[in-house]
Amino acid sequence: MKDGNVVWYSHPVNKEQRAKRLDQSPEILWFTGLSGSGKSTLAGAVEERLFEMGHHVYLLDGDNVRHGLCGDLGFSDEARVENIRRIGETAKLFVDAGTIVSAAFISPFRADRRLVRDLVRPSEFVEVFIDTPLTVCEDRDPKGLYKKARNGEIKNFTGIDSPYEEPELAELVINTHEKDFKACL
Ligand code: ADX
Repeated sequence: MKDGNVVWYSHPVNKEQRAKRLDQSPEILWFTGLSGSGKSTLAGAVEERLFEMGHHVYLLDGDNVRHGLCGDLGFSDEARVENIRRIGETAKLFVDAGTIVSAAFISPFRADRRLVRDLVRPSEFVEVFIDTPLTVCEDRDPKGLYKKARNGEIKNFTGIDSPYEEPELAELVINTHEKDFKACL
């Protein structure tokens, strides 16, 4: 726990120098949406496109991060808050390192997405709402999780028995069910 005895130390190499070396403006591309909405697929494709353009990129993905950094967290409201807090702080470090970092997380709560937004400069946070309706996500059910949630085998599943608060002011809103993949990209 942080207390008054921990003081910030400024090291000689700073964020601006790193960004200049990499010749890019570091930022967070925050993909939010239901499970099965297409966040990870789209975030991966965006990352690939930026990489091919010569940018330094990194993708933090919900399912992957829950194997390590957030491997101790479940899906209660409290655990999701802590999940997004850790990812927000991690994304901020990537921005400090000069990287364009994408984050693909359900991140169901507005307040938590707001907290991450406020960790960096206004121009450094781009919220991308993958606006795929629950019925479409449930039809896709790529991991069979909706079926399990409906059968009561998984508790606190987003959209079923756990809430998702849609963004009100996302910089980008993508309808993966109405447009083809290329158009979304
Ligand atoms: S978040 O709500 O804390 O942002 P996160 O994006 O890290 O969620 O993880 C979501 C992924 O975990 C889903 O894509 C799904 O594969 C899996 N998952 C397992 N259990 C649940 C659950 N109860 N609710 C939502 N996703 C779950």
